[in-house]
Amino acid sequence: MNMKILVTGGCGFIGSHIVDAYVTEGHDVVVLDDLSTGDIGNLNSQAKLYEKDINSDLEDIFSQEKFEVINHHAAQINVRTSVDDPLFDAKVNILGTLNLLNLAIRHKISRFIYASSGGAVYGEPDDLPAGENTALSPLSPYGVSKVAAEKYILAFTHLYNLESVILRYSNVFGPRQIAKSEAGVISIFIERILNNKPCDVYGDGRQTRDYVFVSDVVEANRLALSSDSSVFNIGTGMETSVNGLIDIFSSILGIRTEHRHVDARPGEVLRSALDCHKAHSEMGWQPVVALKDGIIKTLEYFKEISQS
Ligand SMILES: NC(=O)c1ccc[n+]([C@@H]2O[C@H](COP(=O)([O-])OP(=O)(O)OC[C@H]3O[C@@H](n4cnc5c(N)ncnc54)[C@H](O)[C@@H]3O)[C@@H](O)[C@H]2O)c1
Repeated sequence: MNMKILVTGGCGFIGSHIVDAYVTEGHDVVVLDDLSTGDIGNLNSQAKLYEKDINSDLEDIFSQEKFEVINHHAAQINVRTSVDDPLFDAKVNILGTLNLLNLAIRHKISRFIYASSGGAVYGEPDDLPAGENTALSPLSPYGVSKVAAEKYILAFTHLYNLESVILRYSNVFGPRQIAKSEAGVISIFIERILNNKPCDVYGDGRQTRDYVFVSDVVEANRLALSSDSSVFNIGTGMETSVNGLIDIFSSILGIRTEHRHVDARPGEVLRSALDCHKAHSEMGWQPVVALKDGIIKTLEYFKEISQS
């Protein structure tokens, strides 16, 4: 069944891939993005763009467009920025989400899909991989704002019967990820490698993350259009260290990846991984792209854009 879907952040890394998939499925897709970190070059030609802040007055757009679903990916995503300016982070991530929720109720939107962060909301749990029932203990203002937005969504689901699907991603990587963004270590390494510069490894490089390829995240968003309301971790359950990433790059490139160890970043989470069995059993979702294959695809993308 074709739907009218609003994708906020649809010019960004993850949002733009979701827009592409929804358009391919035949949905009528509208994007709301202020282009603060997004790129208009990522916008699918069949999607309509409103270049607006999620906190602005969106009443007329909602009256006119009559969305059935909101897929909310617009956010302030930089952990460092959230530490330096927690008020700005809260305005975008909490008040912006609340503005959309209010509009969703006023305009009788049936479903709200939200991009949360499994890497941020659980903090540093004792047991890994973290399941959806692991205590929410964010360690940064960004993590707090993601938790707060989740809680508002759940309250609105309870109060108004708004269907909601909250997807807690691990570290997402793939084409279109900006090498500047904090989470994007794989794209940062690729940029360094293509520019013949050494990759910076913070501390001893044994800190781990759960890397999930963007097409797998897109598939979760496709399934979220019809799944039951719930919260799902979206990752692989596997931990890969930064040293492990260097080894994967070396095996792909056929030469030892040049790198140097620099001072550890204080406050950095040491280990992170998400248990994703619930998404498998309840949504029929599972990651299908192996880390090495995803890195090869991302490398090819960055090589291509550097030549164009
Ligand atoms: N990248 C990851 O590894 C990761 C992990 C967990 C969760 N997430 C979540 O996924 C979502 C998308 O992240 P991404 O990596 O694609 O980031 P991104 O920065 O590429 O995309 C965010 C998009 O939102 C837009 N935006 C920002 N503030 C806005 C505002 N006030 N009004 C309108 N548009 C605004 C930006 O211009 C950009 O296009 C975010 O909600 C993020 O918290 C990302």
